[in-house]
Amino acid sequence: MSTPRLASRIAVVTGSSSGNGREIALALAAEGAHVVCADVTELPREGGYDDDPTVPTHELLTRKFQRSIFVKTNVTDEVQMIALGAAAVEAFGRIDIWVNNAGIGIGLGPLESCSVDDLNLALQINLVGTWLGCKVAKSHMMNQSVVGRSRGQIINLGSVAADGGQADLSIYSVTKGGVHSLTRSLAIECAPLGIGVNAIAPGYIPTAMTRPFWEDPHGAAHIKEFQPWFEMSQASDVAGPVVFLASDESGFITGMVLRVDGGALAG
Ligand SMILES: NC(=O)c1ccc[n+]([C@@H]2O[C@H](COP(=O)([O-])OP(=O)(O)OC[C@H]3O[C@@H](n4cnc5c(N)ncnc54)[C@H](O)[C@@H]3O)[C@@H](O)[C@H]2O)c1
Repeated sequence: MSTPRLASRIAVVTGSSSGNGREIALALAAEGAHVVCADVTELPREGGYDDDPTVPTHELLTRKFQRSIFVKTNVTDEVQMIALGAAAVEAFGRIDIWVNNAGIGIGLGPLESCSVDDLNLALQINLVGTWLGCKVAKSHMMNQSVVGRSRGQIINLGSVAADGGQADLSIYSVTKGGVHSLTRSLAIECAPLGIGVNAIAPGYIPTAMTRPFWEDPHGAAHIKEFQPWFEMSQASDVAGPVVFLASDESGFITGMVLRVDGGALAG
């Protein structure tokens, strides 16, 4: 039997309780990583498509794979984010992989219907939370030894909404545009340290966040036209590329925003 790609690696995943974050945590653990799960709530969001929704992610991981812990964390709070990094090191000794996945989709609609409060909240969670995660991850990774091909891998969740203009997404797209820019800037800053910084830019993936689109006939038709791939997307489509970026197979890749969109922006 071959050794799992992430055997003995330690991963932190924010927003790990639901949707993409839960699938990412499962996929990292399936490849041998100990995962530190971080979210504002332990159980998956209602209205999602998660399997075993009564079981918190860290319990599922511990049952199916190896020990995982949960650290209640609001990614917008710097003190809590520093405590998350410290808890990971205390439990497992180092941090090899940090996935900034926590995010929200609010303020969807034409500009005149959007509020500054929604903009500020989305910026706080999607962009400031990711920036803080990068800051805490870098502070640990830069002071630890190289394992495999790097001192650590930071992976941010962006969106195709940042790169291809779509109506009614002014708030969400601007937060994710910041995530893509942050990823490229930090990749240059961290490359001499041996820390990789990459992002995944998903298209529409069925989760609690996007259920209203999938359930609305116009929304579902738009998604089908937007994403030409013949099958429907699923959260595991995001998790696989995260595992790749976390693994030694992507050793010379940094500053990449990898689209996972069924061809949406290929044209
Ligand atoms: N679903 C999609 O189509 C899609 C597309 C592109 C990008 N993304 C990105 O993927 C990531 C995950 O999205 P999802 O669709 O799984 O959403 P989701 O709503 O299903 O899950 C998000 C998780 O983040 C947690 N969270 C929210 N605010 C938080 C905070 N302040 N601190 C800590 N945790 C917090 C929630 O509790 C939840 O468990 C987000 O960054 C999102 O922008 C999703």
